Amino acid sequence: MTESRILQVEALRVAFETRQGTVHAVNGVDFDVRPGDVLGIVGESGCGKSATLRAIAGLTQPPGEVTGGSVRFADRELVGLSRRSLRQVLGKDIGFISQSPFGALNPILSIEAQFRNVIRAHRRATKRECREIALRALTDVGIAGPDRVLGGYAHQLSGGMAQRVVIAMAMVHDPRLLLADEPTTALDVTVQRQILDLVTGLIAEAGRSMVLVTHDLSVVAQYCTRVLVMYAGRPVEEGTVRQVFKSPRHPYTQALLAAVPRVGEEIRGLSGGLPDLIDYPVGCPYAERCPRATALCAEEMPAMASCVPGRAAACHHPLEEVASYAAS
Ligand SMILES: Nc1ncnc2c1ncn2[C@@H]1O[C@H](COP(=O)(O)OP(=O)(O)O)[C@@H](O)[C@H]1O
Ligand code: SF4
Ligand SMILES: [Mg+2]
Repeated sequence: MTESRILQVEALRVAFETRQGTVHAVNGVDFDVRPGDVLGIVGESGCGKSATLRAIAGLTQPPGEVTGGSVRFADRELVGLSRRSLRQVLGKDIGFISQSPFGALNPILSIEAQFRNVIRAHRRATKRECREIALRALTDVGIAGPDRVLGGYAHQLSGGMAQRVVIAMAMVHDPRLLLADEPTTALDVTVQRQILDLVTGLIAEAGRSMVLVTHDLSVVAQYCTRVLVMYAGRPVEEGTVRQVFKSPRHPYTQALLAAVPRVGEEIRGLSGGLPDLIDYPVGCPYAERCPRATALCAEEMPAMASCVPGRAAACHHPLEEVASYAAS
């Protein structure tokens, strides 16, 4: 049963200790990723997408802490692993791409030296072999003139080129799972699409899986197979992109879809804000903004409930499922 899942996240919780109190950033996130899936995690800024993804990759840093739950990668528990054991997995079987390519690159090492470090972290290779692997990886991400890039430094690259380099490094060991946190947000729209075409193409070609965090629903529509909608650190709806976009069941998903901006723009037009993540609500975290809210919603937290396998929503009063999409 479990072999068909490359990643299983269960009841994941992340909190940040701050002077004001404990910020409950991720509050019980569950999802699975199967081979070939490109799962989009979507939601407004501050809803816990990055904290979730970083926790999966073992990258949670103080004042943040994984306070509960489980992350199983290919049936191996990652939560609680030592840094050393995690390093055997991260960068090899799991690749990670963040929003800022310049944050991921070392400013004082040549790109070639950085490739060498990445390659040698997980295999023995001579300098020459490393160079060949790096040249191939850069060519695969559409960089013409990879020699020149290898000899240079991060500051000589444009944002789009730097992100291509980071992707090439992340793909060098052919990871089974790629985690990408808004990998194109900092880039202009044309470059965004080129990079997303490229990275999802590489994933599909190799039969690998990906979790793509984004605030952009048009990116989800174009590039993802499945979608998980998050609100206030909780999953509120999950399903195939087709199901969720054609027939959202959670009022928050419906509001997000109704507020869809032009390509590449931030989600806007939603009234109200996220609830207080320090004094977390006992009932539905969306209740204050929800047009369907009742007394029950303020009192009781709705759990994720499935109507069909792989399709779920956390709402006491979900919207009607459009019948023809119920099983698709
Ligand atoms: N280092 C930190 N210290 C305190 N709070 C943090 C820190 N990082 C994130 N948070 C809080 O955790 C919540 C979730 O943040 P994040 O996962 O970055 O959201 P998203 O990626 O969806 O925009 C936010 O309320 C944010 O303020
Ligand atoms: S549980 Fe209630 S408040 Fe929450 S989304 Fe559903 S209807 Fe709205
Ligand atoms: Mg984020």
